[in-house]
Amino acid sequence: MSNLYESPRLVHEYLLFHYGAAHEILPWQQGPVAALNFPVRTVTEMTNPSPRRRALDIGCAVGRSAFELSRFCDHVTALDFSQAFIDAANTLRSGHEIHCEVADEGRLTMPFTAHLPDSAQPDRVTFARGDAMNLPPDLGSFDLVHAANLLCRLTDPKPFLSRLPDLVSQGGQLILTTPCTWLEEFTPPSNWPPNRTIDWITDSLSQHFRLLHQKDLPFLIREHSRKFQWSVALGSLWERL
Ligand SMILES: C[S@@+](CC[C@H](N)C(=O)[O-])C[C@H]1O[C@@H](n2cnc3c(N)ncnc32)[C@H](O)[C@@H]1O
Repeated sequence: MSNLYESPRLVHEYLLFHYGAAHEILPWQQGPVAALNFPVRTVTEMTNPSPRRRALDIGCAVGRSAFELSRFCDHVTALDFSQAFIDAANTLRSGHEIHCEVADEGRLTMPFTAHLPDSAQPDRVTFARGDAMNLPPDLGSFDLVHAANLLCRLTDPKPFLSRLPDLVSQGGQLILTTPCTWLEEFTPPSNWPPNRTIDWITDSLSQHFRLLHQKDLPFLIREHSRKFQWSVALGSLWERL
């Protein structure tokens, strides 16, 4: 696991990605607006907001999807390996704003303030540091598990995939999204899927899960005011048999 996600630059980049308004992330009218609001859309475009008891957001980063889940789930456990991300999420959860500077160009920066989204139910969310490849045995099971863009950031995704049948209650749902961006800096090639990521996920899950639907989810991360990462995550929704 790289320390990249502990760096202030990445914390600020993710705060903007998760909590920025459209004009703060994308100051260009001709830009890909459909790619905005990704951490909200991985919830709203993948499942319906029917009431659930327990939800797990694993690889939650600075917390936007966990707050989205808190709108209809009684309790959300949100875990990430980065302590810096968890600290930022907890600051927002406690009602404090985070003032930061995001890259504009060269030495220039743009001030940005992140705050709790209006619809969030912070009392329903617990953020904690956790390792998706080595989750505590007593975590229990959940009615909804959400893992957005985590898979190809793990050194070894297999232990996480193997743990999923235990984590999702019978009849519960699993939302997985991945841009299938396999990189040596995160995952040794010996642990990359041997074929298309979706076929590999299906092989890993089909004994215990049924695929309900699949969706392409574009997202946009601003590196600076004139440079962006535009990617398309592959979303899949699974029901635990
Ligand atoms: C590409 S980001 C995606 C974050 C967020 N879900 C989103 O969609 O914006 C990957 C996240 O996985 C976290 N992560 C990486 N390895 C992890 C591990 N072993 N256990 C838990 N989280 C991990 C990183 O800290 C980072 O927050």
